[in-house]
Amino acid sequence: MNNVSLLKVGARALRGALLLSGAMLFAMPQAMAGDPVKGGKIYNQQCKKCHGGSGKSTFPGVADFSRGEGLMIADHELLQKIRDGRGMMPAFRGILKDNDIFDVITYLRKLRR
Ligand code: HEC
Repeated sequence: MNNVSLLKVGARALRGALLLSGAMLFAMPQAMAGDPVKGGKIYNQQCKKCHGGSGKSTFPGVADFSRGEGLMIADHELLQKIRDGRGMMPAFRGILKDNDIFDVITYLRKLRR
């Protein structure tokens, strides 16, 4: 093998590695995303009585998730809010695991119509 073909082989290997890491970057967010089906079950058990089946709250003045209200923030900020609670909203720290809360957040984001 001469130097030129060696270079070609190297370039091809590099391109392969770049494609692979690119594909992994695409695959990762999906692997980390919450499970909306599990989230929906938890929502129905823990949240529905106040936030309604469709995300339209029964409390006046509370964010309407079916209109995307209150959801224009990052997942980790929502996690914080749900862990801490506020006012009439109970804190879910110790009741739900972070993973469960992420599942619920994934579900909340699907309530928008
Ligand atoms: C006892 C009733 C009640 C339950 C149960 C409840 N919430 Fe709430 N939630 C509220 C109220 C009331 C507020 C508004 C709090 C405030 O701003 O004073 C609120 C606020 C929120 C907010 C913030 C919205 C905003 O305007 O920023 C989120 C997100 C949220 N709830 C999600 C959940 C999730 C997820 C669950 C179930 C795991 C849940 N809530 C369970 C009553 C409840």
